[in-house]
Amino acid sequence: MTEIILRRPDDWHVHLRDDAMLAAVLPFTARQFGRAIVMPNLAEPVTTPALAADYRHRILQALPDGKEYEHFEPLMTCYLTDETDAGQIEKGYTDSVFAAAKLYPANVTTNSTNGVTDITSLEPVFAKMQEMGMPLLLHGEVTDPEVDIFDREAVYIEHVLSQLIKEFPQLKIVMEHVTTKDAVEFVRAHRDQMAATITAHHLIINRSDIFEGGITPHRYCLPIAKREVHRLALREAVTSGDSCFFLGTDTAPHPVSDKEAACGCAGIFTAVNALELYTQVFEEENALDNLEGFAALHGPAFYGMDTNEGAVTLVKKDWRVPGTIAVPDGSSVRPFRAGRTLNWKMKD
Ligand code: NCD
Ligand code: ZN
Repeated sequence: MTEIILRRPDDWHVHLRDDAMLAAVLPFTARQFGRAIVMPNLAEPVTTPALAADYRHRILQALPDGKEYEHFEPLMTCYLTDETDAGQIEKGYTDSVFAAAKLYPANVTTNSTNGVTDITSLEPVFAKMQEMGMPLLLHGEVTDPEVDIFDREAVYIEHVLSQLIKEFPQLKIVMEHVTTKDAVEFVRAHRDQMAATITAHHLIINRSDIFEGGITPHRYCLPIAKREVHRLALREAVTSGDSCFFLGTDTAPHPVSDKEAACGCAGIFTAVNALELYTQVFEEENALDNLEGFAALHGPAFYGMDTNEGAVTLVKKDWRVPGTIAVPDGSSVRPFRAGRTLNWKMKD
Protein backbone atom coordinates (compact mmCIF):
# COMPACT_ATOMS: atom_id res chain seq x y z
CA MET A 1 0.00 0.00 0.00
CA THR A 2 1.38 3.43 -0.90
CA GLU A 3 -1.51 5.72 -0.07
CA ILE A 4 -4.14 5.71 2.66
CA ILE A 5 -7.21 7.90 2.72
CA LEU A 6 -8.85 8.25 6.12
CA ARG A 7 -11.89 10.06 7.29
CA ARG A 8 -10.46 13.10 9.08
CA PRO A 9 -9.36 11.94 12.55
CA ASP A 10 -9.75 13.67 15.93
CA ASP A 11 -7.27 13.96 18.78
CA TRP A 12 -9.06 13.23 22.05
CA HIS A 13 -6.25 14.44 24.35
CA VAL A 14 -4.12 17.49 23.54
CA HIS A 15 -2.16 20.12 25.46
CA LEU A 16 -2.22 23.30 23.39
CA ARG A 17 -0.83 25.59 26.14
CA ASP A 18 -1.20 29.36 25.71
CA ASP A 19 0.49 32.46 24.26
CA ALA A 20 3.69 31.84 22.26
CA MET A 21 3.63 28.07 22.76
CA LEU A 22 0.01 27.90 21.59
CA ALA A 23 0.95 29.80 18.44
CA ALA A 24 3.84 27.42 17.77
CA VAL A 25 2.08 24.10 18.31
CA LEU A 26 -1.54 24.68 17.28
CA PRO A 27 -1.02 24.54 13.49
CA PHE A 28 0.42 21.02 13.75
CA THR A 29 -2.63 19.66 15.55
CA ALA A 30 -5.11 21.68 13.48
CA ARG A 31 -3.87 20.54 10.09
CA GLN A 32 -4.26 16.86 10.95
CA PHE A 33 -7.26 16.69 13.21
CA GLY A 34 -10.89 17.77 12.91
CA ARG A 35 -11.41 18.21 16.63
CA ALA A 36 -9.20 18.14 19.69
CA ILE A 37 -10.12 17.63 23.31
CA VAL A 38 -8.10 20.44 24.86
CA MET A 39 -6.65 19.78 28.29
CA PRO A 40 -7.38 22.46 30.91
CA ASN A 41 -4.07 22.34 32.85
CA LEU A 42 -2.87 25.85 32.08
CA ALA A 43 -0.83 27.74 34.67
CA GLU A 44 -4.18 29.18 35.69
CA PRO A 45 -6.37 26.08 35.30
CA VAL A 46 -9.55 26.23 33.24
CA THR A 47 -12.06 25.66 36.04
CA THR A 48 -15.16 27.56 34.88
CA PRO A 49 -17.25 27.95 31.72
CA ALA A 50 -16.07 31.58 31.45
CA LEU A 51 -12.39 30.59 31.55
CA ALA A 52 -13.03 27.82 29.01
CA ALA A 53 -14.85 30.19 26.65
CA ASP A 54 -11.94 32.67 26.87
CA TYR A 55 -9.38 29.96 26.25
CA ARG A 56 -11.36 28.65 23.28
CA HIS A 57 -11.39 32.16 21.88
CA ARG A 58 -7.59 32.47 22.27
CA ILE A 59 -7.16 29.15 20.47
CA LEU A 60 -9.30 30.25 17.54
CA GLN A 61 -7.43 33.57 17.41
CA ALA A 62 -4.14 31.69 17.23
CA LEU A 63 -5.33 29.47 14.39
CA PRO A 64 -3.62 30.57 11.17
CA ASP A 65 -5.74 31.47 8.16
CA GLY A 66 -5.85 28.86 5.45
CA LYS A 67 -7.89 26.02 4.05
CA GLU A 68 -5.77 23.41 5.79
CA TYR A 69 -6.87 24.69 9.22
CA GLU A 70 -10.44 25.84 8.81
CA HIS A 71 -12.06 22.52 9.77
CA PHE A 72 -10.47 22.64 13.23
CA GLU A 73 -12.67 22.72 16.30
CA PRO A 74 -11.30 22.84 19.85
CA LEU A 75 -13.42 20.96 22.40
CA MET A 76 -12.99 22.39 25.86
CA THR A 77 -12.70 20.59 29.18
CA CYS A 78 -13.25 21.64 32.77
CA TYR A 79 -10.42 21.20 35.28
CA LEU A 80 -11.98 19.60 38.36
CA THR A 81 -10.97 20.71 41.84
CA ASP A 82 -12.29 19.88 45.31
CA GLU A 83 -14.44 23.00 44.96
CA THR A 84 -16.01 22.33 41.54
CA ASP A 85 -19.68 23.10 41.64
CA ALA A 86 -22.17 20.72 39.99
CA GLY A 87 -24.24 23.72 38.82
CA GLN A 88 -21.28 25.17 36.88
CA ILE A 89 -20.61 21.80 35.29
CA GLU A 90 -24.23 21.52 34.25
CA LYS A 91 -24.25 25.03 32.80
CA GLY A 92 -20.96 24.55 30.97
CA TYR A 93 -22.14 21.29 29.44
CA THR A 94 -25.66 22.35 28.49
CA ASP A 95 -24.29 25.57 26.95
CA SER A 96 -21.86 23.39 24.92
CA VAL A 97 -18.82 25.16 26.39
CA PHE A 98 -17.52 21.99 28.06
CA ALA A 99 -17.32 18.73 26.15
CA ALA A 100 -16.00 16.86 29.21
CA ALA A 101 -14.41 17.33 32.63
CA LYS A 102 -10.86 16.33 33.52
CA LEU A 103 -9.81 14.89 36.85
CA TYR A 104 -6.18 15.30 37.85
CA PRO A 105 -5.37 13.87 41.26
CA ALA A 106 -3.55 16.75 42.98
CA ASN A 107 0.17 16.88 42.07
CA VAL A 108 0.01 13.93 39.69
CA THR A 109 1.53 15.80 36.73
CA THR A 110 2.25 19.20 35.09
CA ASN A 111 0.06 22.03 36.51
CA SER A 112 -1.98 19.75 38.74
CA THR A 113 -1.41 21.40 42.13
CA ASN A 114 -5.05 22.54 42.08
CA GLY A 115 -6.23 19.04 41.26
CA VAL A 116 -8.44 16.84 43.37
CA THR A 117 -7.29 15.83 46.86
CA ASP A 118 -10.56 14.20 47.94
CA ILE A 119 -12.53 12.43 45.25
CA THR A 120 -15.57 12.10 47.52
CA SER A 121 -15.97 15.91 47.41
CA LEU A 122 -16.92 15.48 43.73
CA GLU A 123 -19.83 13.09 44.23
CA PRO A 124 -22.50 15.71 43.38
CA VAL A 125 -20.50 16.60 40.25
CA PHE A 126 -20.23 12.95 39.15
CA ALA A 127 -23.96 12.44 39.80
CA LYS A 128 -24.77 15.41 37.55
CA MET A 129 -22.34 14.27 34.85
CA GLN A 130 -23.80 10.77 34.96
CA GLU A 131 -27.29 12.18 34.56
CA MET A 132 -26.27 14.37 31.58
CA GLY A 133 -24.02 11.79 29.89
CA MET A 134 -21.01 14.13 30.20
CA PRO A 135 -17.70 12.23 29.98
CA LEU A 136 -15.26 12.20 32.88
CA LEU A 137 -11.64 12.12 31.71
CA LEU A 138 -9.24 10.60 34.22
CA HIS A 139 -5.54 10.92 34.75
CA GLY A 140 -5.52 7.48 36.32
CA GLU A 141 -2.50 7.37 38.62
CA VAL A 142 -2.21 7.44 42.38
CA THR A 143 0.10 10.08 43.81
CA ASP A 144 1.23 8.29 46.97
CA PRO A 145 5.04 8.55 46.91
CA GLU A 146 5.20 5.14 48.59
CA VAL A 147 3.78 3.55 45.44
CA ASP A 148 6.42 2.79 42.83
CA ILE A 149 6.05 5.13 39.81
CA PHE A 150 5.66 2.15 37.46
CA ASP A 151 2.74 0.78 39.53
CA ARG A 152 0.74 3.97 39.96
CA GLU A 153 -1.73 3.30 37.15
CA ALA A 154 -2.46 -0.28 38.22
CA VAL A 155 -2.91 0.81 41.85
CA TYR A 156 -5.27 3.59 40.76
CA ILE A 157 -7.44 1.05 38.96
CA GLU A 158 -7.53 -1.22 41.97
CA HIS A 159 -8.08 1.39 44.67
CA VAL A 160 -9.88 4.32 43.04
CA LEU A 161 -11.42 3.46 39.69
CA SER A 162 -13.01 0.17 40.76
CA GLN A 163 -14.83 2.02 43.52
CA LEU A 164 -15.83 4.94 41.27
CA ILE A 165 -17.53 2.75 38.69
CA LYS A 166 -19.40 0.88 41.42
CA GLU A 167 -20.78 4.13 42.75
CA PHE A 168 -21.51 5.61 39.33
CA PRO A 169 -22.30 2.66 37.04
CA GLN A 170 -23.60 4.88 34.25
CA LEU A 171 -20.93 7.59 34.36
CA LYS A 172 -19.08 7.76 31.05
CA ILE A 173 -15.37 7.55 31.81
CA VAL A 174 -12.33 7.88 29.56
CA MET A 175 -9.17 6.63 31.16
CA GLU A 176 -6.66 8.88 29.47
CA HIS A 177 -3.28 7.80 28.03
CA VAL A 178 -3.38 4.25 29.38
CA THR A 179 0.01 2.59 29.64
CA THR A 180 -0.61 -0.87 31.09
CA LYS A 181 -2.08 -4.26 30.24
CA ASP A 182 -4.07 -3.88 33.47
CA ALA A 183 -5.79 -0.76 32.12
CA VAL A 184 -6.52 -2.37 28.75
CA GLU A 185 -8.17 -5.32 30.49
CA PHE A 186 -10.11 -3.11 32.91
CA VAL A 187 -11.46 -0.84 30.19
CA ARG A 188 -12.55 -3.83 28.11
CA ALA A 189 -14.29 -5.37 31.10
CA HIS A 190 -16.26 -2.14 31.67
CA ARG A 191 -16.80 -1.12 28.07
CA ASP A 192 -20.46 -0.30 28.62
CA GLN A 193 -19.33 2.85 30.43
CA MET A 194 -15.60 3.18 29.70
CA ALA A 195 -13.11 3.91 26.96
CA ALA A 196 -9.42 4.81 26.83
CA THR A 197 -7.13 7.01 24.80
CA ILE A 198 -3.72 5.67 23.82
CA THR A 199 -0.77 7.84 22.78
CA ALA A 200 1.57 7.16 19.88
CA HIS A 201 4.65 7.30 22.08
CA HIS A 202 3.39 4.60 24.46
CA LEU A 203 2.98 2.34 21.42
CA ILE A 204 6.59 2.99 20.42
CA ILE A 205 8.75 3.18 23.54
CA ASN A 206 8.99 1.08 26.67
CA ARG A 207 10.64 2.08 29.92
CA SER A 208 14.09 0.90 28.87
CA ASP A 209 14.01 3.32 25.95
CA ILE A 210 13.97 6.24 28.40
CA PHE A 211 17.52 5.21 29.33
CA GLU A 212 18.80 4.05 25.96
CA GLY A 213 22.42 5.18 25.71
CA GLY A 214 21.90 7.60 28.63
CA ILE A 215 18.96 9.39 30.18
CA THR A 216 16.66 10.79 27.49
CA PRO A 217 14.40 13.51 28.89
CA HIS A 218 12.39 13.80 25.67
CA ARG A 219 11.06 10.29 26.31
CA TYR A 220 9.86 11.18 29.80
CA CYS A 221 6.15 11.71 30.30
CA LEU A 222 3.41 10.80 32.72
CA PRO A 223 2.18 8.18 33.00
CA ILE A 224 5.72 6.96 32.43
CA ALA A 225 6.30 4.29 29.76
CA LYS A 226 6.14 0.78 31.22
CA ARG A 227 7.68 -2.64 30.51
CA GLU A 228 7.60 -4.22 27.05
CA VAL A 229 4.70 -6.53 27.97
CA HIS A 230 2.56 -3.44 28.49
CA ARG A 231 3.64 -1.77 25.25
CA LEU A 232 2.64 -4.94 23.40
CA ALA A 233 -0.75 -4.99 25.14
CA LEU A 234 -1.35 -1.39 24.02
CA ARG A 235 -0.40 -2.25 20.44
CA GLU A 236 -2.83 -5.17 20.49
CA ALA A 237 -5.59 -2.94 21.93
CA VAL A 238 -5.32 -0.18 19.32
CA THR A 239 -4.88 -2.46 16.31
CA SER A 240 -7.59 -4.94 17.34
CA GLY A 241 -10.39 -2.74 16.03
CA ASP A 242 -11.92 -2.65 19.51
CA SER A 243 -14.13 0.42 19.78
CA CYS A 244 -13.27 1.21 23.41
CA PHE A 245 -9.82 2.48 22.37
CA PHE A 246 -9.27 5.69 20.44
CA LEU A 247 -6.65 8.22 19.47
CA GLY A 248 -5.39 10.72 22.04
CA THR A 249 -1.85 11.91 21.50
CA ASP A 250 -1.29 13.63 24.87
CA THR A 251 1.06 15.88 22.91
CA ALA A 252 2.53 17.91 25.78
CA PRO A 253 5.08 20.51 24.62
CA HIS A 254 7.60 21.99 27.04
CA PRO A 255 10.49 24.29 26.09
CA VAL A 256 13.67 22.27 25.48
CA SER A 257 15.31 24.07 28.43
CA ASP A 258 12.60 22.75 30.77
CA LYS A 259 13.04 19.20 29.49
CA GLU A 260 16.85 19.11 29.44
CA ALA A 261 17.17 20.22 33.05
CA ALA A 262 18.23 18.87 36.44
CA CYS A 263 14.53 18.34 37.11
CA GLY A 264 13.00 17.89 33.69
CA CYS A 265 9.28 18.35 32.99
CA ALA A 266 7.03 15.45 32.04
CA GLY A 267 5.54 15.56 28.56
CA ILE A 268 6.27 14.32 25.04
CA PHE A 269 5.57 16.54 22.04
CA THR A 270 4.00 14.53 19.21
CA ALA A 271 1.80 17.08 17.44
CA VAL A 272 4.26 17.41 14.53
CA ASN A 273 4.09 13.78 13.47
CA ALA A 274 1.21 12.17 15.40
CA LEU A 275 -0.72 10.67 12.54
CA GLU A 276 2.39 9.35 10.84
CA LEU A 277 3.58 7.69 14.07
CA TYR A 278 0.27 5.91 14.57
CA THR A 279 0.16 4.87 10.91
CA GLN A 280 3.60 3.32 11.17
CA VAL A 281 2.51 1.29 14.22
CA PHE A 282 -0.62 0.01 12.45
CA GLU A 283 1.45 -0.93 9.42
CA GLU A 284 3.99 -2.79 11.55
CA GLU A 285 1.11 -4.73 13.11
CA ASN A 286 -0.49 -5.45 9.70
CA ALA A 287 -3.61 -3.64 10.83
CA LEU A 288 -3.91 -0.61 8.55
CA ASP A 289 -7.56 -1.55 7.98
CA ASN A 290 -8.27 -0.73 11.61
CA LEU A 291 -6.54 2.66 11.65
CA GLU A 292 -9.61 4.64 10.62
CA GLY A 293 -11.75 3.19 13.41
CA PHE A 294 -9.15 4.06 16.04
CA ALA A 295 -8.38 7.51 14.64
CA ALA A 296 -11.74 8.75 13.37
CA LEU A 297 -14.72 6.60 14.42
CA HIS A 298 -14.48 5.20 17.95
CA GLY A 299 -13.90 8.56 19.64
CA PRO A 300 -16.96 10.37 18.22
CA ALA A 301 -19.09 7.29 18.91
CA PHE A 302 -18.12 7.34 22.59
CA TYR A 303 -18.59 11.10 22.92
CA GLY A 304 -21.91 10.93 21.07
CA MET A 305 -20.74 13.18 18.25
CA ASP A 306 -20.84 12.90 14.48
CA THR A 307 -17.78 11.74 12.61
CA ASN A 308 -15.90 14.34 10.59
CA GLU A 309 -16.85 15.03 6.99
CA GLY A 310 -13.45 15.53 5.40
CA ALA A 311 -10.52 13.20 4.80
CA VAL A 312 -6.75 13.11 5.14
CA THR A 313 -4.31 11.31 2.88
CA LEU A 314 -1.13 9.60 4.01
CA VAL A 315 1.49 8.64 1.48
CA LYS A 316 4.33 6.15 1.79
CA LYS A 317 7.31 8.47 1.75
CA ASP A 318 10.43 8.87 3.87
CA TRP A 319 10.81 12.17 5.70
CA ARG A 320 12.94 13.42 8.55
CA VAL A 321 11.32 14.69 11.72
CA PRO A 322 12.68 18.19 12.44
CA GLY A 323 15.13 18.51 15.34
CA THR A 324 13.34 21.41 16.94
CA ILE A 325 10.38 23.69 16.34
CA ALA A 326 10.85 27.39 17.08
CA VAL A 327 8.50 29.12 19.51
CA PRO A 328 7.87 32.86 18.91
CA ASP A 329 9.17 33.76 22.40
CA GLY A 330 12.66 32.54 21.45
CA SER A 331 12.40 29.09 23.04
CA SER A 332 11.99 25.85 21.14
CA VAL A 333 10.32 22.45 21.46
CA ARG A 334 11.66 19.10 20.39
CA PRO A 335 9.34 16.64 18.65
CA PHE A 336 9.24 12.97 19.56
CA ARG A 337 11.52 11.05 17.14
CA ALA A 338 13.35 14.28 16.21
CA GLY A 339 15.95 13.68 13.51
CA ARG A 340 14.63 10.21 12.68
CA THR A 341 13.13 9.08 9.42
CA LEU A 342 9.45 8.13 9.30
CA ASN A 343 7.99 6.27 6.35
CA TRP A 344 4.48 7.75 6.12
CA LYS A 345 3.73 11.40 5.48
CA MET A 346 0.46 13.25 5.62
CA LYS A 347 -0.25 15.06 2.33
CA ASP A 348 -0.78 18.82 2.61
C1 NCD B 1 1.26 16.62 30.56
C2 NCD B 1 1.63 18.12 30.50
O1 NCD B 1 2.81 18.42 30.34
O2 NCD B 1 0.72 18.95 30.61
N1 NCD B 1 2.45 15.86 30.75
C3 NCD B 1 2.62 14.54 30.46
O3 NCD B 1 3.67 14.00 30.78
N2 NCD B 1 1.71 13.83 29.83
C4 NCD B 1 0.22 16.40 31.61
C5 NCD B 1 -0.38 15.02 31.58
O4 NCD B 1 -1.18 14.70 30.70
O5 NCD B 1 -0.04 14.22 32.47
ZN1 ZN C 1 -2.12 14.99 29.04
